Amino acid sequence: MREVGGVIFPKILFGGDYNPEQYPKQIWDEDMRLFRLAGIDVATVNVFSWALNQPDENTYKFDWLDEVMDKLHANGIYACMGTGTAAHPAWMARKYPDVLAVDYQGTKRKFGRRHNSCPNSPTFLKYSGLIARKLAERYKSHPALLLWHVNNEYGVRCYCGNCEMTFREWLKKRYGSLEKVNEAWYTRFWGHTLYDWEDIVLPSGLSEGLDKSDSDKTAFQGATLDYYRFASESLLNCYLTEYNAIKEVIPDAIVTTNFQGNGTYKPLDYFKWAKHMDIAALDMYPPNDASASYTALRYDLMRGMKDGAPFMLMESTPGVLNWKSVNPLKRPGAMRLQSYQAVARGAETVMFFQLRRSSGAYEKFHGAVIDHAGHENTRVFRECAELGNELRNLEGALPGSRMNSRVAILFDWENWWAVEFNGGPTTRLKYLDQVQKYYDAFYENHIQTDIVSVDSDLNQYEIIIAPLLYMVKPGVAGKLENFVENGGTLIVTFFSGVANENDQVVLGGYPGELRKLLGIWVEEIDALFPNQKNVAVIKRETENLGKSYECGLVCEIVHPEGAEVIAEFGSDFYVGSPSLTRHRFGKGEAWYTGSDPEPVFLQTWVAHLCECKGISPLLHVPPGVEVTQRIKEGTRYTFLLNHTGYAQKVDIGEQPRHDLLNDTFVSGVLEIPPAGVMILREA
Ligand code: GLA
Ligand code: ZN
Repeated sequence: MREVGGVIFPKILFGGDYNPEQYPKQIWDEDMRLFRLAGIDVATVNVFSWALNQPDENTYKFDWLDEVMDKLHANGIYACMGTGTAAHPAWMARKYPDVLAVDYQGTKRKFGRRHNSCPNSPTFLKYSGLIARKLAERYKSHPALLLWHVNNEYGVRCYCGNCEMTFREWLKKRYGSLEKVNEAWYTRFWGHTLYDWEDIVLPSGLSEGLDKSDSDKTAFQGATLDYYRFASESLLNCYLTEYNAIKEVIPDAIVTTNFQGNGTYKPLDYFKWAKHMDIAALDMYPPNDASASYTALRYDLMRGMKDGAPFMLMESTPGVLNWKSVNPLKRPGAMRLQSYQAVARGAETVMFFQLRRSSGAYEKFHGAVIDHAGHENTRVFRECAELGNELRNLEGALPGSRMNSRVAILFDWENWWAVEFNGGPTTRLKYLDQVQKYYDAFYENHIQTDIVSVDSDLNQYEIIIAPLLYMVKPGVAGKLENFVENGGTLIVTFFSGVANENDQVVLGGYPGELRKLLGIWVEEIDALFPNQKNVAVIKRETENLGKSYECGLVCEIVHPEGAEVIAEFGSDFYVGSPSLTRHRFGKGEAWYTGSDPEPVFLQTWVAHLCECKGISPLLHVPPGVEVTQRIKEGTRYTFLLNHTGYAQKVDIGEQPRHDLLNDTFVSGVLEIPPAGVMILREA
């Protein structure tokens, strides 16, 4: 299976993590029978089997894996081959203690758990690269092999001596001279001048840290920012070590790794990672109280990883979790609906952790397709099998399709880090919350958005939102100016344009480099307590934005210099000063909000902007129904997802469409049952 014309997989694949090494071989044949019954066509194997495959430094043993691979093939199931390096073998820790990571407080780990290796350990790099190569050599021609799953949920930040030395080398490359490091880190503050490269230590709980457990609380944001960049790159280098080993043996291998934190994992700059992945992949374990838009945002972010290309849902639970304080069951129909939501937004796999429940250790109560009962007569198995067979019937309909969004929200990891370093107006400023708020405003209006990096081509969009764009990296202001000049509509929110890429304030008035584009400058920033609010009074009722709205979190004292005032603060000593402005710039307009508006207003505001641009929902659907569209070679697939507990009606118009899941032609008013899903192909 190799990529042909943007299509990587033959169909929406269905399966998940499969760890047969944890139980007796007699069960394996039964697994195969159950997999076939459930429509499973991909199994991720070998994810935690390094210890088994390499019992000592010089011995490699893959017999068990050969047998598993052969069985998968005999049953028509593809293998997603793990490299197994997310937990090092005990012998390695015993013999080469450099593999053991050191935590933020300087404590060196002992052998145990997983995600425990120092990313700059020469031993780890050597042996992880080697095992990846051995696996590639062994399975390169195996007919079951479909793709590669390197390591698992990368994420360690290490503070060992070796990482410290490597950090110094990294800084030498980035800055060229110590003088430049001193400048970038602003070391005249608190007498931190560095005289020698040896003076550079990692910003840990033993050095710049201001809080024992939170590395964001740092005395030197410049140093911590660089360490975060370095730590993300160090792990990326681990990934690349294995990636290159595999590609040297199998040049056209499809290689990926699974993103954690539902795709918004703070420590790793996933946009940088995705450049080195053949397909982006994420694991989805949303909080118990997550809204449908929480997951929607993250799937859209995954699509943004590779310029709109489809991605993999690598893991989710078919039934229940084991690692939260309370682990409720997924209600009947919820797993199906949630799986289709990923597909509706560009996923080309629906995969679970895991296919069979383990009987010992930490994850023995984690949900699985096959439960401890061991047979198919369970609710979860039945629901999985129904979905598996539905996906089978979709055949090759969706893979390789794209989505067409005219709106984009900017997302940037370095900005996220910098916003949440301490020392700003309020620790309540949370980057993800702001991104989610704006996303929700479009979501509630049923307008599809992309989530893209500041490096993306912005001119393909008509509306761009830059929530909390605190750090403006070189070139970004110019890009945004260009976008607006050419007719685009831009929204920038409070506390933006404040700092440069070293987290140093741009002097001469906020929002720094964005000042010209926004036509304002900000004199002071007031922080509000959680229950404290201000009101914004709308000055221009013709704008269709209502009369007033509530705002909070921060209130900035803004001076227009070219921008029109759309709304003013209604109370406090800055009463009458602008809270919302619009600057006509070239053919477009740049809006600025100097406070955090209530969600209802955001919905009204973005609806107004969309209307001005002629951007309307794909279909007029009631609240709680999600509508998306994937397009493949001119054929449009519209997804309707009912996230409510009751039936909903949607008018799709007179043109008949092919309802793929029911294989009928439909038109007019359709009824979607509670938790129901429809995929309509334009006939
Ligand atoms: C993560 C890991 C899996 C498993 C699941 C459990 O996503 O990648 O190995 O531990 O969590 O939810
Ligand atoms: Zn280390």
